[in-house]
Amino acid sequence: MSDHIPQLTSYDDLSLDAAFATLAAEVQQASELRDAEAQEAFRLHWLGRKQGRLKLISDAWLKSAPVEAKKPLGLRFNQLKEKVEWQLQLSNSNLVPDPIPAPGVDIARATLGGTNQYLADKKRNPYPLDVTLPGAIRTPGIPHPLLKTMQEIVQVFHHLGYSTNLGPQVETDFYNFEALNFPPNHPARDTQDTLQIAHQTGKPSRDRLLMRTHTSPVQIRTMVAQAPPIRIVIPGKVHRNDAADATHSPIFHQVEGLCVDTNITFSDLKGTLDHAMKALFGSDVKTRFFPSFFPFTEPSADVQISCIFCGGKGCRKCKHSGWIELLGCGMVDPHVFAAFTEERRKINPADDTYNPERITGFAFGMGVERIAMIQHGISDIGHFYSGDMRFLEQFA
Ligand code: PHE
Repeated sequence: MSDHIPQLTSYDDLSLDAAFATLAAEVQQASELRDAEAQEAFRLHWLGRKQGRLKLISDAWLKSAPVEAKKPLGLRFNQLKEKVEWQLQLSNSNLVPDPIPAPGVDIARATLGGTNQYLADKKRNPYPLDVTLPGAIRTPGIPHPLLKTMQEIVQVFHHLGYSTNLGPQVETDFYNFEALNFPPNHPARDTQDTLQIAHQTGKPSRDRLLMRTHTSPVQIRTMVAQAPPIRIVIPGKVHRNDAADATHSPIFHQVEGLCVDTNITFSDLKGTLDHAMKALFGSDVKTRFFPSFFPFTEPSADVQISCIFCGGKGCRKCKHSGWIELLGCGMVDPHVFAAFTEERRKINPADDTYNPERITGFAFGMGVERIAMIQHGISDIGHFYSGDMRFLEQFA
């Protein structure tokens, strides 16, 4: 390999072509770089950052060239550089067999500086297309099983004429608790171990921010925004300071329902939920309502369905009771309407929109994870959040 950089005497096309042809021939001579050592020597010789030949040529020819010669010089210089790089790549692929080069690229390279790289590659790899390789499989995305169940629940109520409402996940104490008849420091709050937002203690208690512990605050938000009749479902994410185990997660999902009108009775609630459970779990399913307590409903009930695994005979899944507890519900407590009416009468003393003498309603709230786990026989809630494709792919 020569180290000499010839003097450039003239910048016309002919002289430039001649000068670069000599260099191209030099690169060509090095076509047989048999081992890694020879390759490295070649790379240093041409591409070395300080003493590489390309660097020296650039210094000697390009820098001192008159302005009008810079372009033709630069063009040829770049071609030469590509040739060097190509030479390196080629010898590299001789050492470790390369994936098949794209034919288009080969043809382009073959015209560069007169080397016939295309033919060289063809000789190495006479069948550039391997039809036995597996094709590229595109797997379409699917809805997450939780979203699918949430959608199914919402759909059942849409068919009954309900619409959907959403609310914020960061909520004020007022909407999450106070307006729902959980007074400050009331022990009923302990059932919903709340994640508080930091630095809120300077604010009045009702304005303090927290992560909503249920979707019920959106009942209040809906009533603030619209007058009866109301038929609404509220799907969404909720947060509680619960330690994660097989059936608990600090973040989970609920679907809330609210129906407010004149003459709404407990039998409307029973009929609606009985229908919804049959729509979700099959028409054989029976429901029963057990007395329960929620501060914002009176009377309150827990809804149980006959065990879908054993048909009510008793098995491990239903702890041999034949029943599975699924959701909470009740008639909207007249206190909630009364407190609401009081607030509204501060603006309009004659406001009668939510007068509990005239208006009744029911509400219910169900856990989406719990329902999806029963639907699919999943025993660990953690699967929903793990992102494990082996789990998720089963719902495709
Ligand atoms: N918000 C209650 C909970 O999360 C459930 C519920 C909703 C109960 C609506 C009654 C009415 O525990």
